[in-house]
Amino acid sequence: MRFTVAIDGPAAAGKGTISRKVAEHFGFAHLDTGLIYRATGARVLDGQDPLKAAAFLRAEDLDRDDLRTPEVADAASRIAAVPEVRDALINFQRDFAGRDGGAVLDGRDIGTVICPDADVKLFVTASPEIRAERRYQELSAKGLDVTRDGVLEDVNARDARDAARAAAPMKAAEDAVMIDTSELSIDDAVAAAIKQIEAVRNKTT
Ligand code: DC
Repeated sequence: MRFTVAIDGPAAAGKGTISRKVAEHFGFAHLDTGLIYRATGARVLDGQDPLKAAAFLRAEDLDRDDLRTPEVADAASRIAAVPEVRDALINFQRDFAGRDGGAVLDGRDIGTVICPDADVKLFVTASPEIRAERRYQELSAKGLDVTRDGVLEDVNARDARDAARAAAPMKAAEDAVMIDTSELSIDDAVAAAIKQIEAVRNKTT
């Protein structure tokens, strides 16, 4: 059985948590595509050429423990604007999406470019202030030296770059369902996503 769920949206909107929980609920595999860009960005910060970093990315690169830092997030967003880097990462993502047993992919261009025929497309968003506050809590809990204002600035700069780039910009697919998590608990946001997926599954099975 092939069943693909595409979940896109800006930084720290909750798409990672929603994707993980949705995948668990349905027994689908989950790919956080941001990690691929982060791992490529981390290699570039190590001094590698961006194209080579993307083309020769290995599974172990996704296990690096520095991938969640603001520096790597920024590098990821920069190299993600290079069309050849994105091209080098397409097949891995499409193969994952087509696997048997169902797949959830979260990112910025899953519903628009990677899986335009996904069975379900969700666009998860929240106000910039709420997203920055969540990211601030997450990073400071990990012991990183960050400030609320600094995180808000980083999140806004990254979203502006991700949305404005010419290659596969972050945007909702025309047939995506919007989920605004600003006023939702995680459980309510996950329930909203599951409801959308159930509705499609009931129609197709
Ligand atoms: O989801 P994230 O914050 O881990 O993503 C890090 C960066 O990677 C993000 O700022 C833009 C880029 N990215 C992308 O361009 N396309 C994707 N499908 C996923 C992430």
